[in-house]
Amino acid sequence: MEAKIAVLAGDGIGPEVIAQALKIVKAIEKKYKHSFTYTEALVGAVAIDKTGNPYPEATHKICMESDVVLFGAIGDPKYDNDPKAKVRPEQGLLKMRKDLGLYANIRPVSPFKSLINKSPLKTELVDGADFVCIRELTGGIYFGEKGRSEDLNKAFDTCTYTRDEIQRVTKLAFEMAGKRRKKLTVIDKANVLATSRLWRETVQDMEKDYPDIEVDYMFVDNAAMQLIQWPKKFDVMVTENMFGDIITDEASVITGSLGLLPSASVGIHTSVFEPIHGSYPQAAGKNIANPVATILSAAMLFETGLGLMEEGKIIREAVDKSLEKGIVTIDISGEGNKSYSTSEVGDWIAEYIQK
Ligand code: IPM
Ligand code: MN
Repeated sequence: MEAKIAVLAGDGIGPEVIAQALKIVKAIEKKYKHSFTYTEALVGAVAIDKTGNPYPEATHKICMESDVVLFGAIGDPKYDNDPKAKVRPEQGLLKMRKDLGLYANIRPVSPFKSLINKSPLKTELVDGADFVCIRELTGGIYFGEKGRSEDLNKAFDTCTYTRDEIQRVTKLAFEMAGKRRKKLTVIDKANVLATSRLWRETVQDMEKDYPDIEVDYMFVDNAAMQLIQWPKKFDVMVTENMFGDIITDEASVITGSLGLLPSASVGIHTSVFEPIHGSYPQAAGKNIANPVATILSAAMLFETGLGLMEEGKIIREAVDKSLEKGIVTIDISGEGNKSYSTSEVGDWIAEYIQK
């Protein structure tokens, strides 16, 4: 297959983890005789430094002209500690999501057999957990009207949803549940928020079109609790933008490390594949970051983005083997135990695929 891949490494550990994922993508390209083109583009703080814009028009053009986008991470502490900064790296990520119409972010969570004891939760709670969180990604409080009063003593962010926005992402969630264990949990705060009541009303109307799917509705505070108390009860969850952001960081600890979870953002234009972790600036340049989340995002790029299932499967197999054999970065091995560098983990997984 011929495919155009846009590569947006971004900030912090982004370039290091992307370099490993690219080794894997290139190993697949060679093994299965595909022909890919790779086009790098700027996003985040590096894009601000070079162009003043965290998602330059040139980057958008490259994404639009590509078949898939492989994305690293963005964010830089120099902006985190300066709430007055007018341009922020995160705006680049949000603009990319909006302009590419990426309304659904798919975050699968299931622990790795060989790492079950790394989870802070008891093994019997975690063993067998397997769920997918579908996070709405282009609406809600992230994108609503926001502002500051003239005297600067008041600020506001508004949360807005339309029925159409809710329907398109929930449709995807119903379809995914149909291919899995046929259970959908809608996470909201309908006891307080008008937008959540519209979510409930809209999904209740859709239920009749999916008679084989069991739907339940859960308040987000309760869901946050149940997720770590009974992670196995969940199959597919769907939720609005900010609840999904928070819930999936929480969910990641079930697997033992935030450094393991991939995601796919899909919607109207080119899909983007990115780890759920951030730019981890403390580790940038040290060759210690866990590349597995980005490598598994590459697996999703093949499966969800290009429809190449076998290619995705061998990447997952290689990752499983690396974890089993203890070829892991320090977040997994733990301080004082034998650990491998970011690039060593990447090399090992790429070699496994080649042979
Ligand atoms: C994520 C990140 C982003 C988000 C940040 C970097 C803006 O936390 O992808 O989960 O909040 O969506
Ligand atoms: Mn997040």
